[in-house]
Amino acid sequence: DTKKVYNLTIAQESKAPDGFTRNMFTVNGQFPGPLIEVNKGDTLVLNVINNLDDNTTIHTHGMFQRGTPWYDGVPGQTQCAIPSKKTFTYEFQVNQSGTYWYHSHSQAQYVDGIVGALIAHDPADPYLKEYDEEIVVLLQDWYHQDVKTLLAQFLTPASNGTEPTPDNGLINGMNSYNCSGAPDGSNCVSNAPLANFTFVQGKKYRIRIINTSAFTEFIFSIDDHPMDVIEVEGTMTQRQTIHRLPINIAQRYSVIVTADKPIGKYWMRAEMETACFANQSDTLNPLVKAIVGYSGYSGSDNPNSTAWTDSQVTCIDLNSSSLKPYQTQTIPDANYKLTLNVSFQPDANGAIRGNINNSTYYIDFTSPTILKVYNNVTTFASNQNAYIIDKDEVVDIILLNTDNGEHPFHLHGHVFWVIGTGYNGTSPDYNLVNTKDPIQRDTATLPAGGWIIARFVSNNPGIWAMHCHIEVIS
Ligand code: C2O
Repeated sequence: DTKKVYNLTIAQESKAPDGFTRNMFTVNGQFPGPLIEVNKGDTLVLNVINNLDDNTTIHTHGMFQRGTPWYDGVPGQTQCAIPSKKTFTYEFQVNQSGTYWYHSHSQAQYVDGIVGALIAHDPADPYLKEYDEEIVVLLQDWYHQDVKTLLAQFLTPASNGTEPTPDNGLINGMNSYNCSGAPDGSNCVSNAPLANFTFVQGKKYRIRIINTSAFTEFIFSIDDHPMDVIEVEGTMTQRQTIHRLPINIAQRYSVIVTADKPIGKYWMRAEMETACFANQSDTLNPLVKAIVGYSGYSGSDNPNSTAWTDSQVTCIDLNSSSLKPYQTQTIPDANYKLTLNVSFQPDANGAIRGNINNSTYYIDFTSPTILKVYNNVTTFASNQNAYIIDKDEVVDIILLNTDNGEHPFHLHGHVFWVIGTGYNGTSPDYNLVNTKDPIQRDTATLPAGGWIIARFVSNNPGIWAMHCHIEVIS
């Protein structure tokens, strides 16, 4: 096993990912940040150099951090944030494989650009011989204002809890924008280039899709090219052929795609699920595109391929509960149940905030939770929303949603079996759960006005966040 070292310099600069110039954040001058790749078993070292005027942290989303919970990157919980102009080193062993990402876990900064892919390869991956090359696709929504401005607008009584909705979406940090929608005086160039991917006819590609959005669920597809799902967030699955892949915030999938179509160009599409938007800018084009061009095709024209539609295909969108794990597992019975009620309520200033069991979370900047625990503190302020779970329990987290929006919930340090999902009402029915062959993942969608049951084994001591991954609310 080897040590892989990455230096990540976080800085602010002016850039125009979609032709609209704004102040944003970069990692090593890049957006998205550099691809981090390790093999299962490697030690990963991240030297973070904070050149922002503000503090920051880096969270490696989906990494278990077994034995190193203090490197999970959550300010106020697992560390003090890295001050402006200081450096901090994360060092941990990666004893897992799959598709992950890293992002700032501080002040919603990832929405301004501190994101990148983290891939852990497994030399014993059961699908290794079934593809020739890998492609990483980062999807995200994109705002033309910085996230501080958006949050300041959101956290007022006037917003009435209506989230800011994006101006655009990006594939690997690129898209074009119609500048007629940009405010006067902005620096905007229409027709900025789209992301381009090359297929060699006859080859098979493992495409790793990561949704790094603040607010947007996408449906991903490539015209004329079916996809076989093989991985969900580190869990290998049995192959399942689909045409359109719904992917919520912070979720990841791997699919295998065969380049067996005529040499030419095809659209890669990421459609925003705008039905989840409370409002929508007139200038938003909710269909985000990139170009897949076969090698050997010389035309400079755009693709003229058409999108998958219901009439062309038998199975359309993926229902993730239909995915089956590659390896059969025995799912233990739960011996500890924790019910978490998700609601939105006005705070003392009248701003609408997310609540769990009627308490909204505030970061304690004076002392991270992990330090309190080392000092044997066992009771926490109610606004710390802390739950203490013994080691080696089989825990059912029962999430109930009284909000009319869906919420992608992420648990740090673990994967959980999604044993049940309900779309109607907040009374989960244990008769409807699947304890035979559910998949394990680290981010699952809690439906609007519905419920999920997430079962996990508490075998990784530490302080672990569990939260909705929508970043433009609070
Ligand atoms: Cu993607 Cu709490 O993290």
